[in-house]
Amino acid sequence: MARPALGLASRRAFRRTPTPTTIVRANLSTGIRQLNPLVSVVSYSDGERMQEGIEAKPEGTGPVMPPGNDLQKTANPLNASVYSQLSPTLFKFTLQDKVAVVTGQVNTFGLRLMIELTTKNRAGRGLGFNMAQSVAEVGVRGIAILDVQQEIGDQAARDLSEQTGVDVRFYRVDVRDGVSIGHTIQDVVDHFGEVNVLINAASIADSNIKAETYDLDKFRRLIDINVTGTFITTQACAQQMIKARTGGSIINIASMSGSVVNFPQEQCSYNASKAAVIQLTKSLAAEWARHGIRVNSISPGYMDTALNRVPGLEAQKKI
Ligand SMILES: NC(=O)c1ccc[n+]([C@@H]2O[C@H](COP(=O)([O-])OP(=O)(O)OC[C@H]3O[C@@H](n4cnc5c(N)ncnc54)[C@H](O)[C@@H]3O)[C@@H](O)[C@H]2O)c1
Repeated sequence: MARPALGLASRRAFRRTPTPTTIVRANLSTGIRQLNPLVSVVSYSDGERMQEGIEAKPEGTGPVMPPGNDLQKTANPLNASVYSQLSPTLFKFTLQDKVAVVTGQVNTFGLRLMIELTTKNRAGRGLGFNMAQSVAEVGVRGIAILDVQQEIGDQAARDLSEQTGVDVRFYRVDVRDGVSIGHTIQDVVDHFGEVNVLINAASIADSNIKAETYDLDKFRRLIDINVTGTFITTQACAQQMIKARTGGSIINIASMSGSVVNFPQEQCSYNASKAAVIQLTKSLAAEWARHGIRVNSISPGYMDTALNRVPGLEAQKKI
């Protein structure tokens, strides 16, 4: 009996008198907020407490590295003697004596993984180049670069080979061309004996084209490069992996745009293509697990590469 009465009493006690509804809007700002220019640090040593302050100066906004000042980094491979000292688990994270194929790798600059800084100031490189540098650092003995751009592809192969001592071959080939890709991958296998890793980074973006006026040939071309091209190189490499019974690892570079839409960037074809790459990846992973072939995708966010250094994106960068 007492409980309902108590419940009623407590509900009454907390009842509030109605107040007019006020909608509070957040004050949005794209800049980084700095609440306190001094960051307090407390540390303990031998039971002694110390407190100090680190001065935190706000940095400027804008691109991390203005176009034209791209920092180039040099690949720095592990010393060969290290591999024999690694634990079995750590060794699994290396690619010792493997052969990697990387598509779309030469244009700009992007992911700089585990790479030493140099002061060279040259035309930048794409994400693929930096991924190639990364696989070279962890033991691959051969890399095949596939891209449509002859001059910088050639230079990428030379730089990568000089930096790492790895046997690098550049093939000027369009990922949409099934016949040429078939011959290319066969040549990779004839030369290196096998193919173990494929990184699919070749892609175009067509940034900022309104859906209602998107030229159909342009739309089809993007899907052809980003989706069919990814499938063509993947199929050609998987055929070799299945034939050789070696298994392998295929990594498709998708995008955050495969699962979210960045508004107001109008790029429906690119977004659809990257969603297709993600689902293609899952489908092939399920089909080829029985052959020991792992198929995964990575979805990067925005990277300051040639892909995004186009006039069509200037307005959005100012938002
Ligand atoms: N830069 C970013 O912000 C970002 C974000 C998410 C995902 N990605 C993805 O990462 C990958 C690499 O992007 P990036 O920024 O280095 O781009 P990028 O434009 O610098 O490099 C793409 C490369 O693909 C090559 N290519 C284009 N069409 C080709 C074809 N038909 N055949 C062979 N090669 C072709 C180009 O020559 C170029 O070297 C792409 O798949 C891209 O969609 C990039």
